Amino acid sequence: MSKKVYVTRPILEGGIEMLKKKGLQVDVNLEDRVLSKDELKKAITGYDAVLCLLTDKIDGEVLDAAGPNLKIVANYAVGYDNIDVKAATERKVAVSNTPGVLTEAVAEHTFALLMSVSKRIVEADKFVREGKYKQWEPKGFLGPQIWGKTIGIVGLGRIGSFVAQIAHGGFNMEVLYYDVKKNPEFEMRFSAKYRNLTELLKDSDFVTVHVPLLPETHHLIGAKEFGTMKQSAILVNTSRGPVIDEVSLVEALKSDKIAGAGLDVFEKEPELTPGLADLPNVVLTPHTASATREARMAMSKIAAENIIAALEGKTPPNLVRI
Ligand code: GLV
Ligand code: GLV
Repeated sequence: MSKKVYVTRPILEGGIEMLKKKGLQVDVNLEDRVLSKDELKKAITGYDAVLCLLTDKIDGEVLDAAGPNLKIVANYAVGYDNIDVKAATERKVAVSNTPGVLTEAVAEHTFALLMSVSKRIVEADKFVREGKYKQWEPKGFLGPQIWGKTIGIVGLGRIGSFVAQIAHGGFNMEVLYYDVKKNPEFEMRFSAKYRNLTELLKDSDFVTVHVPLLPETHHLIGAKEFGTMKQSAILVNTSRGPVIDEVSLVEALKSDKIAGAGLDVFEKEPELTPGLADLPNVVLTPHTASATREARMAMSKIAAENIIAALEGKTPPNLVRI
């Protein structure tokens, strides 16, 4: 009997085709909505592999519901805070993610948000559409220049490094970074300087967050940190919502502690903290940073590669370890 893969939502076909070519039975949740925990437990019972999304919470209970055949949970994302990796490892279930292929997409989106907030693109677009553009304004829609300013990168993984490359090469920005470890080679390449978080926040015109969500990074940026930032600073988050204390962010934006924010992720997404969507100096996108056709196709294929490896008894190439 052929092995079975459950896919929790329809994804780009590349990976699905690869799985089918290997003779695997692939069942996709064609309802195309996030399953509740009970629905998920029921849906994956008896499967050998699950291809899930960042919106699927996979804990010990869900893994147990799958049953003894389950070999791998392949996350269709680079971040895997939705999966209890320890519980999976204890049950000898591999967990994989999709690193590397969405680096450019997320870094581009980071700059799209940074530029949209700075250039007030969304506000200005609304102004034009509402028929308010009656005359050219010498003092209207002012914002900061980006070229030559200082960007503070919090978390220097692949994405943070690529943001630095765009900032340095494209906008002649001074690059500051904070991470759990220093990277001398990176410092050489982009004339970047290491700062602790407080110093980075104090000195940056733009702050962009690229850390994984871990107990140590939960609310990494909150009221105290907003108090440290420049009043003219713009904050961008394309990592995970809970890294920023969103209630404090709304407060900081309302009280002009910082100048603006571009957010692709939210603390309780898809819900927004009350007040956030009423602010004119924020740009909000629905967790679409990796949504290039290229990245999403590559993510589909990588998830499939990991499933194929695990079902052939091999170590998945993107095995997540605890
Ligand atoms: C998206 O947020 C991802 O982690 O891939
Ligand atoms: C994720 O891909 C990262 O390393 O930033």
